[in-house]
This record gives sequence, C-alpha cells and structure tokens, in this order.
Amino acid sequence: MKYNFDKIIDRRNTNSYKWDTTPKDVLPMWVADMDFKVATPIVDSILLRTLHGVFGYSSIPEKYYDAEINWWKNRHCFKIEKEWIEPTVGVIPSLSAIVQAFCKAGDKVLIQTPVYNYFNSSIKNNGCEIVSNELVYEGESYSINFSDFEEKVKDEKVKLFILCNPHNPVGRVWSKEELKKMGDLCIKNNVIIVSDDIHRDIVYSDFVYTPIISISKEFLENFIVCTAPSKTFNLAGLKTSNIIVANQEFKKKINRSLNINEAIEPNVFGIEALISAYTFADDWLDELLVYLEKNRDFFIEYIKKNIPELNVIKLEATYLLWIDCSKLNIKSEVLAQKIKKLGRLRIASGITYGKNGENFIRINIACPMKTLQEGVKRLHSAIDLIKANH
Ligand SMILES: Cc1ncc(COP(=O)(O)O)c(C=O)c1O
Repeated sequence: MKYNFDKIIDRRNTNSYKWDTTPKDVLPMWVADMDFKVATPIVDSILLRTLHGVFGYSSIPEKYYDAEINWWKNRHCFKIEKEWIEPTVGVIPSLSAIVQAFCKAGDKVLIQTPVYNYFNSSIKNNGCEIVSNELVYEGESYSINFSDFEEKVKDEKVKLFILCNPHNPVGRVWSKEELKKMGDLCIKNNVIIVSDDIHRDIVYSDFVYTPIISISKEFLENFIVCTAPSKTFNLAGLKTSNIIVANQEFKKKINRSLNINEAIEPNVFGIEALISAYTFADDWLDELLVYLEKNRDFFIEYIKKNIPELNVIKLEATYLLWIDCSKLNIKSEVLAQKIKKLGRLRIASGITYGKNGENFIRINIACPMKTLQEGVKRLHSAIDLIKANH
C-alpha cells in the first residue's frame, strides 16, 4: 500500500461540516465525506496553484476536458466527447438547473425513495411536484417496482426522472437490465432521465456500474448524467462537477439555466484538483476501494455477531451503510437522537431520505479502521442502553 488510510487526521477546527457542527465528545459518522487525506498529486497540484498567489476568475483549460474524457474511457469504458461536457459547481446545483431547464412550475419530477434528500429541494424550490416510485425493500436489498414506475411515468405531468446510480442511501448499483427497463419506459413516455452518478467510482468487487447513457444511442440522445470527483476523491469542498449531455439542444437549455443562476464559474482549485485526480490518482482510488471493502465487511460482521436487532442492507456501492432498525420499534429521528445521547455517535436518521426510510439509519464508514471500531462500539453500547430502557 502506497497510501496510509489508517492514519487518523484531526478534522476539528477546520470548518468541517461533519466534525465542527458535532459536539466534541460525539463521533460524527453522518454526512457523506471521508476522513482520509486526499491523494498526494491532488494536494501537490493545489499547493502549486496556491504558490502563484493570484486567484482571479478562471476558465476551463483543455486539460480539464481531457482528464474527464480519459476517466470515462479508462475507468468506465465509455467514450464521451468534449462537446458533451458542461462544467458546474456541484451536482445539486446541476440538478436544480436541469429541473429549471425542462420543467415549469406545477410539473412533476419522479424520484425513487428513500433517496438523497437534496433531490427534494431541487424539485420543490422550482415549484415542481415530487412523485415517488418507492423502492421495494426485500430484507437483504432493494428492487424496483416496475409496474408502479410505468404508472408514474405515464402521467403527462411527469417531465423528468432523477435517477441515483449508484443509489444513496440503499447502496444499489443498478444493473444494465434495470437501467434499460427504466430507460425504455421513460423514452416511451417522453420523460427525460437525469442520472446522478456521483457515487459511480465507489463500487465493490462483484458489482459493475453502468452509465445509463452507454446503453443505447437513444438513451445517449435523451438522457443526462451528472458526475463529480467529489465523493470519489474526497473533494466536496472544492465545488467542482460536470454534466454530461450529448444532445446539444438539451445542453444549450442547461447552459442557459446554469447562467441564469450564475452557477457556472469554475473554482480555481477545483479545476486543478479534478485534473490531477482523474489523471494521477487512480492508484489512490484502487487502494481506497480495498480499504473501504474491509471496513464494510468488518462493520457488517460486527453487527451480525453483536447487535442482532439491526439488519445491514447489502452494500454494493458507496461508503454509506443503510441499516434496518425496525426491530427496535423506535422512530428514526428519535433513534438517532438516542444514539447520539447514549452512544455519543452521530449518524443520519432514515426519515431524512423519505417516509419509507423511517425504520432505518445511515452510517458513513469512510474513516480509518480505528475510528470505525470506535463507532461500532458506540453504536453497540447505545443500542444496549436503548433496549434496557425501552
Ligand atoms: C447522490 C448524491 N448527489 C449529490 C450529492 C452532493 O453533490 P454536490 O456536493 O456536488 O452538490 C451527494 C452528497 O452526498 C449525493 O449523495
């Protein structure tokens, strides 16, 4: 191993949203960023740019597009063109701009709950209505209710479907067959798919990520994908992402919408970080994936052995474990508060991601093994105390 993911880095007093909004004696395992130092080439490129000392407005260099194109080709076996890339300042700002570009107030946007909660804001803040094709919980994993999906996309008011692939929080990587079925139904009913693929690089062995636009020419012309190096390389604070859209009419509309919201200026350090991450940090990512897989297996084993009241959902992708707590019979908000109070551990409550997340909690396992061991111990003692007092 070239990189030391065991190293504990003190993130307190760095304006960290995860750590500095959490009381000092509470361990934060909630928001989705990692407690690992980023790859050396990324730090070096930012340092080099810092030394220049002038940080005025920036433009996107050719190297940025090359880096994005090569990452798609080398990591995801799909050839994209420079003309398809629309650089943006985050996936959520991108989704908001896309909703604005393709929907008017009163239109409906489809999502699959439980799902990343900021999808709701992007839809509601634009005066649109949320429609949910609720995912089906099958005890071990989740699947799609296709007859309900078809029913929902048939509604003429549904203009857009925000897909999450891989899915946060249920941890699924959608198979090619599932994507094709959803895509075909959307094409048939004139619904555009925007696929949020921010978690595409954190996929565990035995699972394969398929970009929906790679499935057919028709999908490529009608669907949009959002990507970012932020989850993959722990760069969320640098506010740099891309929209991949082959249809140039769509692209014009999205560009206009991004401009209306002035959400288009690239971040001076984000540009450097994306180039170095996608060009020089694939070995870091390979090592990270091995480390995260060990974290995942350790956590699941511990819970199976020691906390039988909890059921961890199979994690195919992302570093966010989704845990069924229904046996405890406590609402997830209350449960999260109790875990914080009794176990000094901060996790995310499932209800955040939709009504059908009510019996769940979400735990971020992207931290050094020692921190993870401490986290699961705190969870264990909290659950013991909750059971004793219930
Ligand atoms: C599915 C998903 N989309 C988007 C985001 C946030 O993206 P950004 O910070 O680029 O707006 C997250 C963050 O956790 C996420 O899980």
